[in-house]
Amino acid sequence: MRKVLITGTAGFIGFHLAQLLLAEGVRVVGYDGMTPYYDPALKRRRHQILLQSPGFRCEEGMLEDMDRLQSLCEAEQPDMIVHLAAQAGVRYSLENPRAYVDANLTGTFNVMECARMLGVGHLLMASTSSVYGANTELPFRETDKTDHPLTLYAATKKANEAMAHSYAHLWKLPTTMFRFFTVYGPWGRPDMALFRFVRAALEGEAITVYNHGRMARDFTYVTDLVRGIRLLLDQPPALPGAGGEPIPGDSLSPVAPFRVVNIGNSTRVPLMEFIAEIERALGQDIRKDFTEMHKGDVPETWADCALLERLTGYRPQTTVREGVGRFVEWYRDYHQV
Ligand SMILES: NC(=O)c1ccc[n+]([C@@H]2O[C@H](COP(=O)([O-])OP(=O)(O)OC[C@H]3O[C@@H](n4cnc5c(N)ncnc54)[C@H](O)[C@@H]3O)[C@@H](O)[C@H]2O)c1
Repeated sequence: MRKVLITGTAGFIGFHLAQLLLAEGVRVVGYDGMTPYYDPALKRRRHQILLQSPGFRCEEGMLEDMDRLQSLCEAEQPDMIVHLAAQAGVRYSLENPRAYVDANLTGTFNVMECARMLGVGHLLMASTSSVYGANTELPFRETDKTDHPLTLYAATKKANEAMAHSYAHLWKLPTTMFRFFTVYGPWGRPDMALFRFVRAALEGEAITVYNHGRMARDFTYVTDLVRGIRLLLDQPPALPGAGGEPIPGDSLSPVAPFRVVNIGNSTRVPLMEFIAEIERALGQDIRKDFTEMHKGDVPETWADCALLERLTGYRPQTTVREGVGRFVEWYRDYHQV
């Protein structure tokens, strides 16, 4: 692997993945539209850090701008593409659904077209645990049906999986779709619970706790997550019949070099326990406003990560206590509070 194009390098996960690859000496080309969904200043800070590595170069552009994306791909000729840029966020998809259609459908299609034209050795793209939607059987396995998305965000990601399968089949394009589970850690997203809770606590405000706290998430520490991605980069799925696969129980397609892989911590953490860890790390109690379930949310997520472990020998393990502690340390340092 000489050079990897990562979309969304100014974003939370893309930033961490780029740092990991750059530290290994891999050249990274970043592409990000610096969208205003949350403070672009945080995105610029992330890019400034990456730009300190000689192996990093980046271009600011929207996924929807095919000419710009294609020119970058033609000029850089990456061997692999990791597509992480997207309109993320479950709740915002009720406010601004069009942003999801533009970025996640049109944008992802453009990335797939570039991957096809370049004939990359491996295309890897972000999906989400939200595709498990209304499923109630836990933990979630890649082979479970995912036919009942509860938000347009989840629906666009489910569509991405289907779109990717078609290209993997038609163009023999080795493709991995990740299903991430609630990622958190330093340089995290201001719209996500951990960031919001810590900010509110330090500003003396109350936090809103949905479903009266009766929720649980499989929280994945970002450093663990990007290590999982890194290991999967070296595991492009083989064409069934050509490489000895599929393995029974694998989420490989019967016809295409395609797979879907959960990346989670394999631990179900109740929301109130998560909040207690934040209080512990901050050394203060947080005022809580309990309210009804948000209509886009699911009550629980929990990842079965046996496939990730089988493919890479790796399983994320950072505890919420350690991870929340490191986030709070970063938050205090970044905001000087
Ligand atoms: N963070 C999580 O818990 C989580 C969970 C499941 C899935 N995901 C998925 O992982 C990926 C990365 O998420 P993240 O948490 O780093 O989000 P993020 O919002 O921090 O990063 C996404 C980046 O994409 C860029 N972007 C958005 N729309 C764009 C467009 N139309 N054109 C160009 N750039 C655009 C943004 O500027 C941002 O820097 C996303 O695909 C997201 O849906 C994240």
